Amino acid sequence: PITAAITGVAAYTPDYVLTNKELEQMVDTNDEWITTRTGIKQRHILKGEGLGASYLGVQAVKKLLEKTNSRPEEIDLLICATATPDMMFPATANIIQYEAGLVNAFSFDLMAACSGFLFGLTTAAQYIQSGRYKKVILVGADKMSSIVDYTDRSTCVLFGDGAGAVLLEPNTEGYGLLDHVHYTNGAGWVHLHMKAGGSRRPASHETVEAREHFVYQEGANVFKHAVVGMAEASYEILERNQLSSDDIAWLVPHQANKRIIDATAQRMGLDENKVMLNIDKYGNTTNATIPLCLRDYEARLKKGDLLVLAAFGGGFTWGASLVKW
Ligand code: ACO
Repeated sequence: PITAAITGVAAYTPDYVLTNKELEQMVDTNDEWITTRTGIKQRHILKGEGLGASYLGVQAVKKLLEKTNSRPEEIDLLICATATPDMMFPATANIIQYEAGLVNAFSFDLMAACSGFLFGLTTAAQYIQSGRYKKVILVGADKMSSIVDYTDRSTCVLFGDGAGAVLLEPNTEGYGLLDHVHYTNGAGWVHLHMKAGGSRRPASHETVEAREHFVYQEGANVFKHAVVGMAEASYEILERNQLSSDDIAWLVPHQANKRIIDATAQRMGLDENKVMLNIDKYGNTTNATIPLCLRDYEARLKKGDLLVLAAFGGGFTWGASLVKW
């Protein structure tokens, strides 16, 4: 059987760094609260008029092409996982396809909030496993700063901007995506969403005045569901594959809160030195967290390592995947 192997990873974060200290000047918060409650020390923010998530995605995709010695015209498909598209339509993936010169690729966006990269990996893998497509790029790109209210201390400390991309290619030796468990509980939408700007509540003077174009999150409620969802899915992927924590080289968790990550590792019985962690540097970059982790830890990954990727996000959506590196 054909599997979809990850044959390259690249990522991009914008230059501007927003530190906890700087946030102290903007809202009633402090470095100590942010660090102990979330694990975040700083986040990168995209500055510049007219630059959206596609800008971040293009940088990551161009780096990926260079790193994997791929020519843009060789790419068959580009999937962009994003919660902050450049525009309502067309897909942000199309803009990246154009700007990165992927002239032979078809492209579309995939939306599953913070689980987008995880669900996108499974989606991308189907195209490879079908035998028809040879080079598929999955890019997770989010400009969270575009939907964050920098007067709301309960959300503005959490998020950052970034993008990460992987190249997927067919493999017949059993490398790549091996298994997944994915879940949705649509009832959870009420606890984490953006109220206006969609077809239900189009943008108007009222929606702007009511600050409805920003992330709305009931933090403690989402936290409870995230801990259970990410931990149980990660445990389930081990059980389904008759693996123990000893078999796993790395947990690659979505970076929303260090305490959620710790709880997940604990449920799996996994040592903390097997957990990829970079939330301190980037905060929650939504669809970019998992590829940013893979990029940052790439030098420590060995061929054949078993990885568990796990995420929880708006929707609610969550899950875990098993990858042989
Ligand atoms: N600085 C100082 N105090 C703060 C801050 C801040 N930045 N933010 C909130 N507080 C205060 C609150 O007002 C509250 O004060 P009160 O007790 O006087 O009312 C107190 O701190 C505790 O607030 P909680 O919200 O209960 O704090 P909690 O420990 O739950 O941490 C957090 C909040 C970090 C948001 C946490 O709930 C969390 O991580 N939630 C999950 C986030 C997540 O996983 N999201 C899903 C992915 S995102 C996506 O899909 C787009």
